[in-house]
Amino acid sequence: MPKVTVTPEEFKIFSKYILDISGIALDVGKEYLLETRLNPILNRLEFSSYSQLLQKAKSDFKKELENEIIDAISTNETYFFRDKSPFELLQHKIFPDLIDKRSKTNAIPKTTIRLWSAANSTGQEIYSIAMTLIEMGITPDKYNVRLYGTDISDAAIAYASYGVYNKFEVARGLDQRRLNTYFDKQPDDRYKIRDNVRMMAQFKKMNLMKPFVGVGKFDIVLCRNVMIYFTSEDRRKIYQSISKVLEPDGYLLIGSTESLVNDTDLFASQKYLNSVFYQFKE
Ligand SMILES: C[S@@+](CC[C@H](N)C(=O)[O-])C[C@H]1O[C@@H](n2cnc3c(N)ncnc32)[C@H](O)[C@@H]1O
Repeated sequence: MPKVTVTPEEFKIFSKYILDISGIALDVGKEYLLETRLNPILNRLEFSSYSQLLQKAKSDFKKELENEIIDAISTNETYFFRDKSPFELLQHKIFPDLIDKRSKTNAIPKTTIRLWSAANSTGQEIYSIAMTLIEMGITPDKYNVRLYGTDISDAAIAYASYGVYNKFEVARGLDQRRLNTYFDKQPDDRYKIRDNVRMMAQFKKMNLMKPFVGVGKFDIVLCRNVMIYFTSEDRRKIYQSISKVLEPDGYLLIGSTESLVNDTDLFASQKYLNSVFYQFKE
């Protein structure tokens, strides 16, 4: 596969385009990332420069090429029960507290819990939460549980909706018991999430950089391992938007290596065992 090198001028224009369409900030020094991710598209279209690709993407009104570029640039790294402690926190603190509070206020016909995974990638995060809920007995026959997963990447959303994972993906974070309980092995050695788990989640494409229209209110928002791609000004805006869709007593969970310190002062951190979560400041 011939390798096409991006010129400094092209990198400047292309990274501005990527920032505009996705909010993902590619600083100088990330030329290799742009080349590794976009070279296969260039080769397929038999283009010899990044300027050609940009011109084609901008003139494609169906935005198919734009979506392909977003899919290629966004890093979808994720795995089941990533970092473990957020799922223990949900199991031992957040879900019990919420059920307790909501069963006093919205129990008719069923107590409702709404959770949003705002950069859900290929579904492992949401399905890990669905498994946690099932193990706690918080199932759709007894509770109105709504799990929403959104992501900017079409391909990631399609993957999550399909719910089929290869042997390497299920080996990351799932033990044998959960694999046997929640997945069916396919003839091609892949594993399909069972319908009782699949039906608890809904997936939709959504760009966090755009206004949050019609998303409703949530008791819990997970926004994990995505802010790293944005400028600090954009991170501030996104946290502001999240604050508008989070219930006053809701919970915000971010990645275990992330912090809100320089990006927003709307939330106060709380500790439970080894985990940190955020709620609105009093
Ligand atoms: C590293 S994954 C994190 C997945 C999961 N939250 C976790 O922690 O395992 C980051 C995800 O953010 C998505 N993403 C990047 N920019 C986005 C944007 N502007 N709006 C929504 N999602 C975005 C990517 O497509 C990718 O799937």
